[in-house]
Amino acid sequence: MTHGLGNLDPALRHAWHPLCRSDEVTSRPNAFRLLGESYVAFRESRGDLRVYRNQCPHRRAPLSLGTCESDHLRCVYHGWLFDSEGICVEIPALGEHATIPSRAKLSAPAGTFESHGMVFIAPLEPKTPRPSISVAHDVSFQRGDLPVIETRASAGLLADNFLDMAHFPFIHAGTFGAGEAREVPLYNVTRDGLRFEAAYEHEFANREDRGVEQGVRPLLQRRRLTYRYTAPFHLELAIEFLDAGGVNVIGFFLTPIDDDHVRIYSSLWRNDLDGSVERMEDAIAFEVAVVNEDLFLQSRYEDLSLPLDITSELHTRADKTTVELRRILSEFVASI
Ligand code: FES
Ligand SMILES: [Fe+2]
Repeated sequence: MTHGLGNLDPALRHAWHPLCRSDEVTSRPNAFRLLGESYVAFRESRGDLRVYRNQCPHRRAPLSLGTCESDHLRCVYHGWLFDSEGICVEIPALGEHATIPSRAKLSAPAGTFESHGMVFIAPLEPKTPRPSISVAHDVSFQRGDLPVIETRASAGLLADNFLDMAHFPFIHAGTFGAGEAREVPLYNVTRDGLRFEAAYEHEFANREDRGVEQGVRPLLQRRRLTYRYTAPFHLELAIEFLDAGGVNVIGFFLTPIDDDHVRIYSSLWRNDLDGSVERMEDAIAFEVAVVNEDLFLQSRYEDLSLPLDITSELHTRADKTTVELRRILSEFVASI
């Protein structure tokens, strides 16, 4: 029997996941799903972020229907009021000087932080590194966000797909794949705990380079691709144009929200667009088309889990990244 990693594997509760984009959090409590559970997020009057399980401890009413009163949250059902620590400070039905039960408090995730314009939480004590984008603090890069995508998929299979290098000429024939070489060059994977990096250089036809028309550079140019993975579902691909110059980075953050649905947060970081908003919009539209080509297949898998038993599938030397993904996730799950 094979053991696969589904979206709701209990070990995933010990990892960092994006809950939502920062701009989705307002002073009105909002509900977001993660690992089959609902969370409420809002900003109190000072702008501080607050996240709790979306369930009142009294009669389990969704707190996302409540209201924010300065730095307090009032439940919609019987009006219990919770302070900035999530502790109940008022039960209207008991009058003014009532003793509040000590268990009347909200349940918060073990960890919360904001970065890259996203809110990350770890439901239980996190055992994975905090995810990050390598060029996020480099001011020479311009950032553009793809719209958040919610789709039927497995987070594990989507991570597998992002790290896969052999599908370009087939799945992506309608975008960038048509001119891509079918053969995957030899490459090595460098492991670092629950992360890895894999890089290779190859020649490609740079049809977008104006220097080719001008006769400054040849059509065939060198490109270095570096894949970076952080468990469980954070991915980055950096494409360096070694002859024409410029670096394109694609950040990919996957959130398993339910057993069969995933939220995809993707952003582009580029230092070759001269600050042009239009060129970034074009690049985002192109990237959306690329992701949709992948989702055409990924949303149709019958079994939405990533096999962790290495012997249950066939692997080739072109699959080193996706084998490493299975190894890391398998070790992670076993360690919990
Ligand atoms: S359910 Fe929230 S106050 Fe009763
Ligand atoms: Fe793809």
